[in-house]
Formats: sequence, structure tokens, C-alpha cells
Amino acid sequence: MCGIVGYIGQRTAVDFLLEGLRRLEYRGYDSAGLVTLDENGRMDVVKATGRIDALAEKLEETPLRGSVGIGHTRWATHGPPTVENAHPHLGGENVLAIVHNGVVENYQSLKDQLIDHGYHFRSATDSEVIAHLIDFHLQQLGEQGDATGDQRYVTAVEESLSQLRGTYGLVVLFRDRPQIMIAARLGSPLVVGIGSGEHFVASDGSPLAGYTDKIVYLADHQVALIRADSLKVTHRDEGHVKHRVEKLQIHASNLDLEDYPHYMLKEIFEQPNSLRDTMRGRLCEDNATAVFGGLNLTAQQLRQVNRILLTACGTSWHAGLVGEYVIEEMSRVPVEVEYASELRYRNPPVDHKTILFAITQSGETADTLAALREMKRKGHPTLAICNVVGSTIAQEADGGIYLHAGPEVGVASTKAYTSQLLVLTMLALYFGRLRHLSYEAGRRIIRALQELPDRVAESLNCNDEVRRIASKYCHENNFLYLGRQYNFPTALEGALKLKEISYIHAEGYPAAEMKHGPIALVDEHTPSVFIMPRDFVYDKVMANLEEIKARGGPVIAIVGEGDTRVAELADDVIYVPNVEPFLQPFVTIVPLQLLSYHVAVMRGCDVDKPRNLAKSVTVE
Ligand code: F6R
Repeated sequence: MCGIVGYIGQRTAVDFLLEGLRRLEYRGYDSAGLVTLDENGRMDVVKATGRIDALAEKLEETPLRGSVGIGHTRWATHGPPTVENAHPHLGGENVLAIVHNGVVENYQSLKDQLIDHGYHFRSATDSEVIAHLIDFHLQQLGEQGDATGDQRYVTAVEESLSQLRGTYGLVVLFRDRPQIMIAARLGSPLVVGIGSGEHFVASDGSPLAGYTDKIVYLADHQVALIRADSLKVTHRDEGHVKHRVEKLQIHASNLDLEDYPHYMLKEIFEQPNSLRDTMRGRLCEDNATAVFGGLNLTAQQLRQVNRILLTACGTSWHAGLVGEYVIEEMSRVPVEVEYASELRYRNPPVDHKTILFAITQSGETADTLAALREMKRKGHPTLAICNVVGSTIAQEADGGIYLHAGPEVGVASTKAYTSQLLVLTMLALYFGRLRHLSYEAGRRIIRALQELPDRVAESLNCNDEVRRIASKYCHENNFLYLGRQYNFPTALEGALKLKEISYIHAEGYPAAEMKHGPIALVDEHTPSVFIMPRDFVYDKVMANLEEIKARGGPVIAIVGEGDTRVAELADDVIYVPNVEPFLQPFVTIVPLQLLSYHVAVMRGCDVDKPRNLAKSVTVE
């Protein structure tokens, strides 16, 4: 939600800002804007509602030349998506500009005080108070005269931040100080890219790819004073801190659409490779187990764990449900899966042998972060299963496992989901091998995992058939998704994929639950998607399928290759490779991802940027 970019150097800032904002589009937004500053202190602001293209059109009319600038994509919270509410916001007599991500909880009282001091507000946002507050402190410091040079600007920002309650990723420019840019973060991510005689700022690393591979992840309570040729970071409590320069792991080619019409389709087709990347170096055939570098707990400590709590939101929560099945089966350690939004406010009885895994693609989801912090506060080891390197959750967890799935740009999670499943399956193997799982069983699981990317590649062969099926059903407005055991979470995930990008109402259920209520929905316009590869509940699911057919409901079935029984009853059948039950979620989700993709395209939906949704949900 919301994206920030900033530039200071020798280039024409607007070129980087506009491209950077496009690369952050996936985070979700409904208006955008930018400001540039030239060496003479000329400050130009351009804002637009809607897509970045609208902003780009305005910029064609008003080309901006400054070599310092900041830009923002806004996902409306306080005030509707209008030009006035779009960022940047100007402070005082237009002497400074800010872009802000996050929420200022005490904005109303600050606003009242600033109005009393004579400030005029132009927007309905909480963010504008930050702009005027910084101006207020600048004036005060000017009068006192005890802070001079750049320090006066840094102090004005720091004093303003100390008055804020809430979260911020913030970048500030000053009209009379075009040689500096100040960035600060608390609870909302911000990175600084280091170039040669230039610096970049962004909400995550993707805008930096192709510009620099040197990245600094700002931590909470840090303030960065950025000049074209220097970066100085201070921490609220520690004073000046030495910043760690890391290597950016995103390449510009990762963000290229290649020949695909949408990122979502590209990312679905990337899954064989993203799974290989997730698995790389993590399977040890000699010991028949998995290895993880960053758990930061000894095997001894992990052997004592008697309960695993998985917490997440949305698709990542569905991955957690699959994790529950596979971890309990392979390791016999009891697993609970909790929505992070519930866990954060609950006080479940948890003993000291429980560990928490927060599962999150973005590493920024507000509820997941809060649940992790709450468990950490209570003294439990917290670990993250996360895709975005350097994200807040990755930084705050005691340890964790990166997905290495590569950047996921489409708002609907696809390849990150299958990589989450893979990490959880490798964890199951690891915990199993710390306990009762035999060497031979471990080797068998490893062999199956090594073949998995090829099986997923084979399941992509159904694409043409799925497109045909999508054209048959794309006008229906209700779908049911049904599966049992390992395929029940897949039913939930298939339904979520369809509803989020095609806006069709869809429900996922364990197939046997149908007769306890949902079967009342079945009619000739409510297709049921059965996920039923051959396993020990196959015959039971077949009985559920018959119940739907008996009531006139159309059936689309996902079955294993070579299955002949289901085709006799179902209206449409999609075949996937036969794999062991614990690997079924990897191959059965592929046709469901494709189905939702094709249906959404046929309905004319904006697949990669569905309405109302954000890739990174940083508000509660
Ligand atoms: C759906 C989707 C969301 C996310 C959820 C959690 O396709 O992407 O449901 O899974 O918002 O996000 P992360 O995994 O970033 O914590």
C-alpha cells in the first residue's frame, strides 16, 4: 500500500521517479504525484488521480528538469483519492515537500494545534500535518539559532517525528536546501540505494534494480540525511549509526514482462523455476533432511519444540493450512494455524516450547507484523517465512527462511504461494528428521521434492484446456471450490484467486461440508470445482461430486492423469500429474491459478492490479 521513491544526483530526477513509481504500482494505489527541485530552488509539483499513466500524461505537458525529487503512490485512507489528497504535500509557505506512507494516529490534535499557529490545510489527509509540523520546527529553530546548516533541517524533522503517534516511511525535500533529502522510517519500509554520486530512496528494492545494486535497509527510528555523494544515518536512541550496505537481490530482468501480457501469467509460468530457487542448497541427501541457514536456533532447541504456531493472512494463511497437514504428518509436532489479525488480539495459552512462524510474501503485512511482535514480547522464538529480503518482518523476526521466489509483481500471489508450500514441506522434513522420521523416508521425500519442479512444469500444460473451460463459465457469478485433506486448503486458495481478480463470488469448502449448508446454493449456474487427484479420500470426494450432479450443478474436476472415472460424471476435466499426496497442493493449484487468470481476462478485469487490493497491506 502506497509507494515512495526519491532521487538526488545528476540525472533528471523525474525519469527515475516515474519509472520507480511504475515498479511500485503492484503495491496498490489510487493516485500518484511527484515533486522536483532544481538548484535554484524551483519546486514543481504534479499530481493525478488514477493510474501512473495519468501522471505521465500531465508530465508531458509540464516537463520537470530538477535533479532532486520525490514521488508517491497513494492508497487512500484519510480522505478520498483526489488530487488535493495525493502526495507530495507542501509545508508552510511551500518551503518543503513530503511524501509519507503510514498512518498518523494523533493527526487531529496536531492539526488543531497547527491551525491555531496559523497553518492552512489543503487536504483531508493525516500526512499533511507532518509537512506543516516540520515547517513549524524549522521556524522555531531559525529563531533560536542554535542549529545551523543541514543540522537545522535534520533537527526539525526529528522533533516533528517525536510528536507523531503512528507509523511512517517519510522523505522530505526543502526548497532552500536542494542539496539534501531527509528520509525516516518507523513501521513502514524504506530503503536507500547508493549510486555513484547519486542516491535513490524507495519503499522496496524494485525501483533500484538496474540503477544500483547497493542497498541500505533503514530500520525503525532511523533518520537518513542524504546528499548526492553522502549518506549519514542516525538513530533516535543511538545517535550516529554505521549503515550496512547490502547487495540488492532483484535484477531489472526480474521485472520485465517478457512476452507475457500480465505479470500474473508470467509468475504462474515461473513456478518450476521459482521452486528450484527456493529449494536450492536446502536439501541434504547425505543426512536425508533439509538445511536452513537462518533459523538461528540449534537442532537441540528445535527438538524441544512441542508446538508450532503458523500465523499469516490471505493466501499465506492458506499456505499455513497446507503446512499444518504436512508438518503434523511428517514430524508429529502439533501445528496450529491462526489468522494474524486474530492472533494479535488473542491471548492463547502458549507454553515456552512453542515457536511461531510468520508466513508472509511481502514481509510488511501489518497484522502479521503485530502478531509476531506480540509473540516476541511474550518471549517466544519468532521466525519468518518471507519473500522480500530486508522487509520489516524479516528484520524483526529472530530468524527465518527466505523464499527466494523472485519479485512477485502481480497482486494475486501465485509463485510466492507455491514457494511457501515448499518451505513448509522442507520444514516438515527437517522437524521429522529431528524426531522419528527414518533415513529412508527422508530420502524418499527428498527424491519427490527434487522432481517437483518438473511435475509443476507438466501441470502448466493444461493452460489451453483451462482457457477453453474459462470461456465456458466466465459469465457465471458464483463458484464453489471443493476438496478434502491436502486439497481442502487448495479449494480455499482457488476460490480466493477467482474472487480477487475476477470479482466473482467464490467459496471454498472441505467437500464433505457441502451437505451441512452450502449445497443449498447449487443450481445450473453455480459451477463446482472439485480438486480430487487420487488419494485415500478419492472415493469419498466422488460421492460428494455425485451429490452435486444430482442437483444439476455443473462440475469442473481437477484429477490425476489416467483417471477415467471422473470424466464420466464431470462436465469438464483438467488433468494434472500424479504425485504423492503431500505434493498435490503444488500441482492442483496451477490449473486454479490459470482458471482465475483466464476468467478475469475474459471479463475485462485488470488482472495485475485488481480493484481495492494492495500487494502489501500495511494497515490494520
Ligand atoms: C492474495 C494475496 C493476499 C496476501 C495477504 C498477505 O493473492 O496475495 O491474500 O496473501 O495480503 O500478504 P503477505 O503474504 O505479503 O503477508
